[in-house]
Amino acid sequence: MISTLLSQLNGPDGDSTPRLAYGADYNPEQWPREVWEEDVRLMREAGVNLVSVGIFSWARIQPARDQWDFGWLDEIMGLLHAGGIGVDLATATASPPPWLTTAHPEILPVTASGETVWPGARQHWRPTSPVFREHALRLVRTMAERYADHPALAAWHISNELGCHNIYDYSDDAARAFRDWLRDRYTTLDALNHAWGTAFWSQRYSDWEQILPPRLAASHPNPTQQLDFKRFSSDALKEYLRAERDVLREITPDVPVTTNFMVMGNTKGMNYPDWAGEIDFVSNDHYVHPGPQDRDELSFSANLTSGIASGRPWFLMEHSTSAVNWQPVNVAKRPGDLARDSLLHVAHGADAVCYFQWRQSAAGAEKYHSAMVPHAGADSEVFRAVTALGQTLKALAPVAGTEREPARVGIVYDWESWWASEQDSHPTALLDYRQEALDWYSALLALGVRADVVTTTADLDRYDLLIAPVLHVIPAPLAKELTRYAETGGHLVTTYFSGVVDENDHIWLGGHPGALRDLLGIRIEEFGPLLDGDSVDLDGAGTGTLWTDRITVTDPTVEVLAHYRTGTYAGMPAVTRRAAGQGSASYVSTRLGVDGLAGLLPELLGPAGVRSELPAEARGSVEQIVRRGPDGRFLFLVNRTDGTVPLTGLSGEVLVGDTDSEGSLVLGPRDVAVVRLPAG
Ligand code: GAL
Repeated sequence: MISTLLSQLNGPDGDSTPRLAYGADYNPEQWPREVWEEDVRLMREAGVNLVSVGIFSWARIQPARDQWDFGWLDEIMGLLHAGGIGVDLATATASPPPWLTTAHPEILPVTASGETVWPGARQHWRPTSPVFREHALRLVRTMAERYADHPALAAWHISNELGCHNIYDYSDDAARAFRDWLRDRYTTLDALNHAWGTAFWSQRYSDWEQILPPRLAASHPNPTQQLDFKRFSSDALKEYLRAERDVLREITPDVPVTTNFMVMGNTKGMNYPDWAGEIDFVSNDHYVHPGPQDRDELSFSANLTSGIASGRPWFLMEHSTSAVNWQPVNVAKRPGDLARDSLLHVAHGADAVCYFQWRQSAAGAEKYHSAMVPHAGADSEVFRAVTALGQTLKALAPVAGTEREPARVGIVYDWESWWASEQDSHPTALLDYRQEALDWYSALLALGVRADVVTTTADLDRYDLLIAPVLHVIPAPLAKELTRYAETGGHLVTTYFSGVVDENDHIWLGGHPGALRDLLGIRIEEFGPLLDGDSVDLDGAGTGTLWTDRITVTDPTVEVLAHYRTGTYAGMPAVTRRAAGQGSASYVSTRLGVDGLAGLLPELLGPAGVRSELPAEARGSVEQIVRRGPDGRFLFLVNRTDGTVPLTGLSGEVLVGDTDSEGSLVLGPRDVAVVRLPAG
């Protein structure tokens, strides 16, 4: 379906080749009518071919229960179509209008401490409210019926960033739905009591009605109840997503449906790998969080989005041309960042580059958020960079529809482990699941080694080396699968706090990490978390923070790759490797950080025979990704640094990039080059 969509994006020029999509959220209702025509003219100038319309338009479209106002939307759809611009039309359900919340305050979410989340911002609705659902689906149906045959309609955009503000609702609606979900999962109360370990603290339930969401409690709420509530909350929104989708599919079966995910930073409430199968193509929103690893994080998120999309092309539905408005300090992008950030997403499989938003708002909470047309107007650096990127994306049309070529290294990213490892009442509150995975990713980038970020349901056998940082939750079948992976020739690397619990968050007994103890050939009697600021030295493998383990080697064939030199466990193993069948299983018991991991990695990559594919002069400074399709392979080279990187010995057609007088490619600061590689 995505390929049909991409071939609709040719504008009025009559050209029928698929194109990368380029555009933004477009909110014409914030502007007087006379601005609309200028908008369409500037969109054409910038090369825009797709905009998302109507995302926050509910109050405008339906000003009262039985009153509809489509005139303005009809007109804007018509203007866009005449300008050759496709519409990713929102179902407009993201933010319920004041008349609805006044008539039905029972749709408002409730916090863990029982406070109502009032209207005044957006997304103030309970995912499980039957009343909200009835009104929202009526709107979806009305939209779908009205625009089903509109020539501008390219795709449906369900709601907006589902769960951004309302993933956790503790209302009575949520309590009822949570009980139904638990009945489905456990069937009997006995099974639930066992899974939740309710023998502890006198929590045994004798009736389903006694069960509540983990509302504000006197101390730590039951951990499995917390974990199940996370699972339930993700499922509840997925179920809502399905409800909107089903209405759309009934009325417009041929129009692709998407919703914008938020694979970025610490957004973890929505189990996106589990949602991805519900929509026709994956879309993601990504915003840079300034900091030392900011562009590595961008690459990591884009990479993970590709994993969630099972390697198929996806849409970058939102990012920013420059500053956002919601960080403590909203840093403007430097010259070159706009294009580099966008193209890095394309390198990882995005077939669309869209921003929030087209025209910077003059009023409202996002008036300081950058846009494609800033407050300064079209005579601005930002708009010039936007227009230049439009040209670049046109040149990259052959990339549309191609898939990312798999790497030889996989980094396993697991939502259940993310959720469970960061819960309260643990050995440390300082553990940061995503940061550990990102550090491994940065270390690989520093060595110039490509890696895919994948979920546990991916085809793991495709990877020679699998890094599973903090894979905390390991149900028995996954333990078996990882053992089989290693024994049949894969090389598994895992870290501290992995394999400690099963799917009920019950400890695998007999010494940690119970699920992987035999495979790793080690046994841990006690965890040794470190206080913030404390560290331990390892012989030959840098410095550890956050965590240490008291490790006993149980299999004489285990090789100790590094010992602790200082700290409570001085002299004991810190990093181990066991040859398992045809492969191996390694364990890293402390947090080494990017530099420490980059130092250790060559040792871990060795047995898998993985090496950098980059020339020596580019290692560390360049990220390399390949996209592949029936008409060729496309090599993306991204300069991660603020310096110039010359690249020699490359042959192919340079689609994007600068060459020197000898014809060699030169990557300027933060530049991206794209080369179509010769066949074969
Ligand atoms: C997203 C949202 C947009 C806009 C943007 C600002 O979370 O979908 O509507 O608010 O952030 O960065």
